[in-house]
Amino acid sequence: MEVVIRPNAEAATDLVARVMARELRDDPRLVIGLATGRTMEAVYARLVQMHRKEGLDFSACHTFNLDEYVGLPGSHRNSYRHYMNHNLFLNVNVDLRNTHLPDGAAADIEAECERYERLIAQCGGIDLQLLGIGLAGHLGFNEPVSSLRSRTRIKVLSPVTCAQNAPLFTPPDEMPRRAITMGVRTILDARRCLLLATGEDKAEIVARAIEGPVTSMISATALQFHPHCTVVLDEAAAGRLQEVDYYRWIFENEPQWQSYRNGSNASNLDGHPLKPGRRKKEIATVLDDV
Ligand code: GLP
Repeated sequence: MEVVIRPNAEAATDLVARVMARELRDDPRLVIGLATGRTMEAVYARLVQMHRKEGLDFSACHTFNLDEYVGLPGSHRNSYRHYMNHNLFLNVNVDLRNTHLPDGAAADIEAECERYERLIAQCGGIDLQLLGIGLAGHLGFNEPVSSLRSRTRIKVLSPVTCAQNAPLFTPPDEMPRRAITMGVRTILDARRCLLLATGEDKAEIVARAIEGPVTSMISATALQFHPHCTVVLDEAAAGRLQEVDYYRWIFENEPQWQSYRNGSNASNLDGHPLKPGRRKKEIATVLDDV
């Protein structure tokens, strides 16, 4: 795991958007896993800006979102389909037919979950999975005691998650109590994971997720199994970490971060030679051996 700490939320967001942009420029057919939540709004705004100002091209990529509320059709203003259309998809040149979310209004939810997993596999798997973290420590909606081997399925939302997300609904008690979410194992199968957390209210759960013991009580701890996971934080979200000096030294000294150290002007200069072996291949995670 790599942990990058930036001075503020804007710089952390900018770095995440630039990592995504670099991956997309390297491979225009990138399969991108996307997340929702307040934190991601700024990431999508930055990607839209890169599309408009720098011609960042989404025309050949595919996207898969982590989750969707059960019972909300895509037309509902609180659905994640609505969120994605308005924050990103309708503002860039992505082909909407290549954008995928679980259908929360599906008549047969179980069949919908299986269809979603199949579709991800048919696209060759997810290359880059963007992630936020909920106050319950969840990835997607993998609430406490989610199996670390779980696949896309239905989950009942925890009280912490309900309290965090209900204010986004009017009235708040209209928030569905169930969601379809990619499983922890589905997320770990992505070739690269990129998690962004900002703000002091995330500091405690971020420290437990990164430096604490792996536990199904906090699904984000499963990222410790991932062979290529980058966590980007602002100072506030990094406030409870023990090894901050170590993380800072790596960011300031390691060559792979060189072009990211000087703020956002370098986004067009981030290009590095195409890595050989970027072809689709299955990453066997440590979980295979468990
Ligand atoms: C929701 C999403 C998560 C996201 C979380 C964080 O619960 N299902 O994928 O990580 O929100 O939200 P915020 O950025 O608003 O803190």
